[in-house]
Amino acid sequence: MKLEPTCLPVTHPTGQYDVLVGTDLLSNLPELADIRGPIALITDSHVGPLHAHRLGEVACTVTIPAGEQHKTLTTVATIYDQLLAAGIDRQATVVALGGGVVGDVAGFVAATYLRGVDFVQCPTSLLAMVDASVGGKTGLDLPQGKNLVGAFKQPTAVLADVSTLHTLPPEEFAAGMAEVVKHSLISNPELFGRLETRDWKLTAQSSISNLQSLVATAIEVKRDVVQEDPFEQGRRATLNLGHTFGHAIEQVSGYRVRHGEGVAMGLVAAASLSARLAHCDLALQGRIESALQAQGLPTRIPAEFEANAIYQAMFSDKKKAAGKLRFILLRDVGNVFMTGEVSEQDVLACLTAVQST
Ligand SMILES: NC(=O)c1ccc[n+]([C@@H]2O[C@H](COP(=O)([O-])OP(=O)(O)OC[C@H]3O[C@@H](n4cnc5c(N)ncnc54)[C@H](O)[C@@H]3O)[C@@H](O)[C@H]2O)c1
Ligand SMILES: [Zn+2]
Repeated sequence: MKLEPTCLPVTHPTGQYDVLVGTDLLSNLPELADIRGPIALITDSHVGPLHAHRLGEVACTVTIPAGEQHKTLTTVATIYDQLLAAGIDRQATVVALGGGVVGDVAGFVAATYLRGVDFVQCPTSLLAMVDASVGGKTGLDLPQGKNLVGAFKQPTAVLADVSTLHTLPPEEFAAGMAEVVKHSLISNPELFGRLETRDWKLTAQSSISNLQSLVATAIEVKRDVVQEDPFEQGRRATLNLGHTFGHAIEQVSGYRVRHGEGVAMGLVAAASLSARLAHCDLALQGRIESALQAQGLPTRIPAEFEANAIYQAMFSDKKKAAGKLRFILLRDVGNVFMTGEVSEQDVLACLTAVQST
């Protein structure tokens, strides 16, 4: 039986677009995304060979090397060169086909090339589907740090074709599941219940209907948050649940720990801190750990990463306000809040408590 795509409309300050979640979306790109002019496809060296053929004819294809280390201004400059050489003008639509790196790079290009052209996202990693492709942010890394340059660029459509997830390496799928768990903790107890009771690592990637429902439900959480706070002035900060810890863990590991893995450990640390400050029961930490473990994610900070080094790394995160660390803490599943009132002693104690032995 063929499943109909799920359509999630997103409104933003200058308009609206639809996020479609389903299968067979890529082969109908121009109709589904209402693209009338030429398509400038931007993809990476892993995804292009696997999925670009499904898009049919495009005016030009730019393939960037896969990997976070290529999310740079240098890559953007090479893309401008190739678009100009191919005669891509302002009638064109830039289409991103790939994970979050391709989405961020292509979004920045679409925001700036010829002062801006239309942009469509075709995310192919779970993380890009449930997180990076919705919300209109783009980011590039500088030698000084990640995502230090960027622009807000809203897409005109997002096509999350879940059939592409079958080629995603399992560890990348698991990394995306960390964000799904995060979204469930922010505002969807029903989704958290599903993650607690089912091993999505085994079932979701193999069943299209499970995948479509999982991805659509997780996107809905992010959609609702960014709709309420498009320019990141308030509620959107809750999307950082687990990220103050997670980013610091990634940094201390020299980026050997994947973003999603850092977020998984960060979610456990955030629950531990919440319990320590008596905002929730310690049992919540255990439930979160089990849900993450079921996705094949690590939940404990490796012992070789010192609590002090992680604490120091937290201060280089650009999301702190006026030199002060902010944490998103949990009262319960679906009930999170932001606070700047946490002592160094409490953070260090909880980092030590969630280290692996
Ligand atoms: N703009 C935002 O709001 C936002 C939000 C979250 C994350 N991000 C950014 O997203 C990036 C992380 O995204 P990511 O985890 O998708 O990383 P990624 O783009 O590096 O993709 C991970 C790996 O999977 C490969 N891949 C992707 N889809 C595939 C598929 N279907 N089959 C086979 N291989 C596939 C990629 O080539 C890459 O090797 C980071 O740079 C992060 O800063 C942006
Ligand atoms: Zn994240």
